[in-house]
Amino acid sequence: MTQLYHADPDSIRHCADLILEGKLVAFPTETVYGLGANGMDPDAVRSIFAAKDRPADNPLIYHIHSLSQWSGLVTDIPDAAAALAEAFWPGPMTIILPAKPCVPEVGRAGLATVGVRMPDHPVAAAFLAACGVPVAAPSANRSGRPSPTRAEDVMKDMDGRIPAVLDGGPCRIGLESTVLSVEIDRVRILRPGGVTREMLEAVVPHVEVHVSALSPMAAGSSAPSPGMLHRHYAPKARVLLASGSARDQAEKICSAYDACSENCMILGTEENLPIYGKRKVLTWGTRTDPGTLAETLFTLLREADRQGASVLFAETVEPVGLGLAVMNRLLRAAEFRYLGDTV
Ligand code: TXA
Ligand code: MG
Repeated sequence: MTQLYHADPDSIRHCADLILEGKLVAFPTETVYGLGANGMDPDAVRSIFAAKDRPADNPLIYHIHSLSQWSGLVTDIPDAAAALAEAFWPGPMTIILPAKPCVPEVGRAGLATVGVRMPDHPVAAAFLAACGVPVAAPSANRSGRPSPTRAEDVMKDMDGRIPAVLDGGPCRIGLESTVLSVEIDRVRILRPGGVTREMLEAVVPHVEVHVSALSPMAAGSSAPSPGMLHRHYAPKARVLLASGSARDQAEKICSAYDACSENCMILGTEENLPIYGKRKVLTWGTRTDPGTLAETLFTLLREADRQGASVLFAETVEPVGLGLAVMNRLLRAAEFRYLGDTV
């Protein structure tokens, strides 16, 4: 049985004690819920992989509440990394750097590096401070499923598999952190997220976006971020994307929907609702504010499952600003399939 705790000081202390006993606790962050274990305890870290059915080659992010914890995990902090941490921590950004030998190999999936982030959520901060150790935590979903943005999503995937979930309400951002590789003079986005390329470039001169952000990684190619190789964020429904202007997309979706004999649904922006009329639409925020699309994407993918959709026709947006992170997740949920592609 998994215990769901309202996050108050007593339950936070209790959950921190569970962590120190080597157990797993799911906790809220500003991005998505994390599934935490004592990052310095190899057995505890190993149990995360079992609870999620996570492939052992996919490394975990270490969550900290102070900069001194960061120095304890990495061999050296280049100036660019320090400047980015100063600008965006606490916040939705993970920095990958060479790891100290004290970081268990299982947590970094055998790599020489470790990804670290300081979350910007009052419950996460209090929980991490109470733990006093860095907490290794992937998103708290079963591997391959959309990340959980509410405690009830965690319960749905993890009930019976972990002892505790701390409920801190819905996550503000709704998509996972930006994962960055930082070398002396080179900053690369391996996974786009809440801190956008544009925001990063206000702090460091040039930021590259790894090609895997918007295209499939071929199996066997050298993945800078192993997570990008695995099928990801997918609901049970087959997701098909629409291309073109906002209006073109809605028209393509309507024709496909009307020709579809399965249980079809639409992931559609507010702007296009009048075009969809009485068709079954999951309303996906507004094109004028990609934050609303990020915030609701995973919740709506899970809602499509709840309603038993077998096909989900989804609109797409420009991959700029937060739109890059939104398209990164949506393309993977769709396994890169567009309406009209021959199958
Ligand atoms: O917002 C987030 O990042 C959430 C919350 C809970 O903090 N966590 C999260 O963790 O999304 P996870 O495990 O679902 O995704 C971590 C990603 C994976 O794609 C993984 O491959 C990559 O970060 N990653 C972690 N450590 C890495 C490393 N040392 N080198 C390359 N990629 C790494
Ligand atoms: Mg994940």
